[in-house]
Amino acid sequence: MDNMADAPNIPEHIAVIMDGNGRWAQKHGVPRAKGHEQGGQTVQRVIDLCREHGVKWLTLYAFSTENWGRSKLEVTALMRMLVKYLYERLPEMMEKNVRLHAIGELYMLPKNAQEALRDVMEKTRGNTGLNTVLALSYGSRQEITAAARALAQDVRDGKLEPADITPELLSSRLYTAGMPDPDLLIRTSGEMRISNYLLWQISYSEIHVTDTLWPDFDRADFDAALTDYAARNRRYGKR
Ligand code: IPE
Ligand code: IPE
Ligand code: MG
Repeated sequence: MDNMADAPNIPEHIAVIMDGNGRWAQKHGVPRAKGHEQGGQTVQRVIDLCREHGVKWLTLYAFSTENWGRSKLEVTALMRMLVKYLYERLPEMMEKNVRLHAIGELYMLPKNAQEALRDVMEKTRGNTGLNTVLALSYGSRQEITAAARALAQDVRDGKLEPADITPELLSSRLYTAGMPDPDLLIRTSGEMRISNYLLWQISYSEIHVTDTLWPDFDRADFDAALTDYAARNRRYGKR
């Protein structure tokens, strides 16, 4: 690119609903856990694509509050994979200047997963490249409820007047405090729903849904999402 005016319109923050691991496994006649494993490979691919395109924030829906309702077998496999992934990928995160964050009811996670997260977040704290946010045991309604409860407590303690509760103040009490709102939301596997993901934060995000299953999501799918995004006219209600 010769000058900034020619630069394509790249989202600063991409949020992803990584869906379709189970369908991928079914399609290939392998256990669901294998689909999740393959999905883990896609995470690495998408991190590299974001770095390549200068995206600053990537928020990945890895495990929802509602996903606790899946079979013990599947939940255990997912938690094991999380710990394995974090430790295996740490050297690469350091090498690639990736900083890891996590949002969600993290205290619900097994102790070893909490430890691994704390450890990797601490070690990558000084990295200044791509910010990767894992949404784990995450539910948007739960997040907003917790923020409302914290604000109510402040009011009861006499630290806050109800009239001083603004959208900005509420934002600052969410897990995502200090992070920019997503510009682009991608959902794989074709489902046209949000599934309790970042309800507050995606108020003005552009939405791109692809039929591609998450384990198959590749460079061409990523480019298609960026092309789609670049053609959008974001009006924020104005004319
Ligand atoms: C998404 O894949 C990963 C998680 C929810 C952990 P799914 O496991 O939901 O895959 P499908 O929707 O059954 O295909
Ligand atoms: C959303 O996918 C959660 C994650 C991708 C982690 P689900 O597969 O759990 O959502 P539903 O059941 O299709 O709404
Ligand atoms: Mg699913």
